[in-house]
Amino acid sequence: MAIIFDEERQVFSLHTKNTTYQMMADRYGYLLHLYYGKRVDDPMEYMLTYFDRGFSGNPYDAGRDRTYSLDVLPQEFPVLGVGDYRSAAFKVREENGCYGCDLRYKGHRVLNEKYRLPGLPAVYGEQIQTLEILLEDERLGLEVTLLYGVIEECDILTRSVKIQNVSGERVYLEKVSSACLDFLYGRYDFLTFYGRHAMERNRQRMPVAHGKQSVGSTRGCSGHQYNPFVILAHSDATESAGECYGVSFVYSGSFTAEVEADQFNQIRLIMGISEEQFSYPLERGETFYAPEAALSYSAEGLGELSHHFHRCIREHICRGKYKDQVRPVLVNSWEACYFDFDGDAIVRLAKQAAQLGIELVVMDDGWFGRREDDNSSLGDWDVNEGKLGCSLQELSKRIHETGLQFGIWIEPEMVSEDSELYRRHPEWAMQIPGKPPVRGRNQLVLDFANPEVVGYIYEKIRDVLIQGNVEYVKWDMNRSLADVFSGRADWQGKVLYDYMLGVYSLLERLTAEFPDVLWEGCSGGGGRFDMGMLFYTPQIWCSDNTDAIDRVRIQYGTSFGYPLSAMGSHVSAVPNHQTGRVTDMRTRGVVAMTGAFGYELDLGKLDEEEKRQVREQVAMYHKVAPLLLHGRYYRLSDPFTDALGAWMVVDEEKKHALCSVVCLENHANMPVAYVRLQGLSRNGKYRDQETGKVYSGAALMSCGIPVLTEFGEYRSWQILLEKM
Ligand code: GLA
Repeated sequence: MAIIFDEERQVFSLHTKNTTYQMMADRYGYLLHLYYGKRVDDPMEYMLTYFDRGFSGNPYDAGRDRTYSLDVLPQEFPVLGVGDYRSAAFKVREENGCYGCDLRYKGHRVLNEKYRLPGLPAVYGEQIQTLEILLEDERLGLEVTLLYGVIEECDILTRSVKIQNVSGERVYLEKVSSACLDFLYGRYDFLTFYGRHAMERNRQRMPVAHGKQSVGSTRGCSGHQYNPFVILAHSDATESAGECYGVSFVYSGSFTAEVEADQFNQIRLIMGISEEQFSYPLERGETFYAPEAALSYSAEGLGELSHHFHRCIREHICRGKYKDQVRPVLVNSWEACYFDFDGDAIVRLAKQAAQLGIELVVMDDGWFGRREDDNSSLGDWDVNEGKLGCSLQELSKRIHETGLQFGIWIEPEMVSEDSELYRRHPEWAMQIPGKPPVRGRNQLVLDFANPEVVGYIYEKIRDVLIQGNVEYVKWDMNRSLADVFSGRADWQGKVLYDYMLGVYSLLERLTAEFPDVLWEGCSGGGGRFDMGMLFYTPQIWCSDNTDAIDRVRIQYGTSFGYPLSAMGSHVSAVPNHQTGRVTDMRTRGVVAMTGAFGYELDLGKLDEEEKRQVREQVAMYHKVAPLLLHGRYYRLSDPFTDALGAWMVVDEEKKHALCSVVCLENHANMPVAYVRLQGLSRNGKYRDQETGKVYSGAALMSCGIPVLTEFGEYRSWQILLEKM
C-alpha cells in the first residue's frame, strides 16, 4: 500500500519504493508536515517540539497554551493570516481586503487512480494512488483539497491543489502554490538553473541563507532565465552521495520557487505559480486548480535524483507515438538558409539529406504569409505558394519522394502587426487599451485567454498540417508576455493563468488529432523547457545556441531535471553562428548525439570528408539511440569548472554503455585527466568496442580511464562499452 492512514494518530504516510512522506492532522485540525526522506515506517510526530517563543503567536483554539505556534511548526500548506510569518503557500483576499483564511482538516479520501487536473498537464499512469486531503475554512465557505499522487516505482510524488468556493462570497486567490516542503533542521544548498537566451540552464549552487531566496518568471512562460526545476541538496551531497530533494513544476507559465531559512534555522521550500499579476476571483460555485508539482528525494546524490525525474518524464509525462520510440534524424532549414529559401531549396536539402542517411527535413520559419524576415506575417498561417513555387501538398509530395519525412515550423501564439490577422482583429492581440504595447522580436502575443482566438488558430494550423501531410512540427514561442490583457476577461488578474490553459488546450487538440506527428517544443531554443510542455511535446529544442562547447554546459544543466530524450540537439556549421567558435565535425557530433539528434546546416556546403563523417555519425546514432532513449544518464564531470565535459549512459541491464568526453580547454603540456565511470556492474568485464581493450567495471569506476589531451582544440572521445 502506497498510502497509509494511521487513524489513531491521524498520520498520513505516502510510501514510494525508497521514500516516505508524512503529515498529520493535529488536535486543532492543522495539517502539519512530519517527514520526507528515506523510507521509514514509524510515525514521526515525535519530532515536533513545543516551546513558548516570543513573537510567535498562538491560535485562539490553543487557549493559554503559548507553546503552540504555527510560526514554528512545519506545515503542509501554510496560509497567510494564521500567524505563520514565513513564506505562505496560499493567500486569499476577501472583498474587503482582509487576509484571514484559516484552513482546518475535514476529511480525506484515498483513490486507486491518479487525480486529474482539468486542462492542465499532469503525471499520468496506471497504479498511481491518490490521496485527497480536504481542508476547510468555514467562515469563507472555502474548501481546499490537497492532492497527492504516489508514483512508487519512480520515487516520485506529485502535488496539486483544488480550491472550491462552496458557499461564500467572492474571494481573490492571490497566491496558490502547488507544493511546500518544511524541514525542521539541516544545512542545505539551493540548486537553480539560470541563464539567458542562447545560454540556458547554468547550474548555481548556493547555501540556503536566512531570509528568502527565490527564482522564477513573470514572463507568462517559464523562461530562459530560470528553470522551474530546483533542488535542495544537503550541503555535503554530491553526484553520487548525499541527500537531496528535487521539485519540478508541471507548468509552462510564470512561476516562483522560493526557499527560506527561518529564525530557528528551519527551512521551507515552495513551488507554484507566480504571485505577480495573479489575482484569481473565485465566485460561489467556482473551482480553481493549481498546476502540479513533482517531488522526489534521493539518498544517493544528485545523479540518482535525476534518474527519478528522467524516468518519470519518459514514462509518465511524455505521450504519443514517440514516447518510447527512437526519433528520426532530422535536418532543419533554419541555420541552413534562415528565411532565404524556396520549395526547390527544401527539396534539394532533402535529397542531400537522403544520401547521408538523414530521415526528416524540417522547413523552419518563413513559409507562410509574406514572411521574408521576422517582422511580419505571424498569424497568417496560409502557405506562401509564391515563395515556395508550389503548394504545400506538392512540396510535401516531392519531399516524400526523396524518401524523407517532412516537418514544419509554427508559432501559433503570436501575431505580427504587419499581418492580415492583426489588421482584421487587432483586439486579438494582448495590449492594454490606450497604452502602446511592448514589442518583442517585433511581434505581439495573441490573447489565448480567449477561446475564440484559440479556436481560430486551431482551424488554421490544422489545415496546414493536413495539407503538408507532415510527420513533425516544431512549436515555437519567441517572446515574453507583457501588457497582459484580455478583451474577454472581466478581471485581468486571471489572464496569465487562462493564457496557459489556452495554450494547453490548443496543444491537446492538435497533438490528439495528429498522434503520429513528432512534436518538438521551442521558445527561442529552451525558453519554455519544463514538464508542462513535455506532456505535449516529447522533445524541446534545447537552445538556439548550437555551439558544441556551450552545448556541453547547456545539456549538462538541463540533465539535472530532464532526460536526454527531451533535448533537441543538432550539429551546425562552423564558425558557429552564435559564438564564432570552430570545433571539428566529430566533436559537434559527439555533443549533438547525446540528445534528440539532427543537423542544422547547409548540407550542400559539406566536402566529401565531412559527408563521410555525417554518414558515420548517423550510423553511430542509430546504433546507440535506444541506449540514449532508455538508459541511465550519469554526469561524470562539471563542465563549468572542469577542463573536460564527460558524461555517460548505461542501459538498465548494465550491458551497454556509451561514455562521451569533450575537451573544453587546452593548454600546453596538459596534465592527464582521469574520467571515472559510473553505473556499471563492478564484477562485469567490459570491452571497448573500438580498441578491443577489456576493463572490469570496478576498475572503470574506481580508477577511471586516462584522457590525454594532445595538440588541438576541443577534441572529443566516444567510448562504447559492451559487457562480455
Ligand atoms: C526561434 C527558434 C529557432 C528558429 C527561429 C525561427 O529563434 O528557436 O530555432 O526556429 O525561431 O524564427
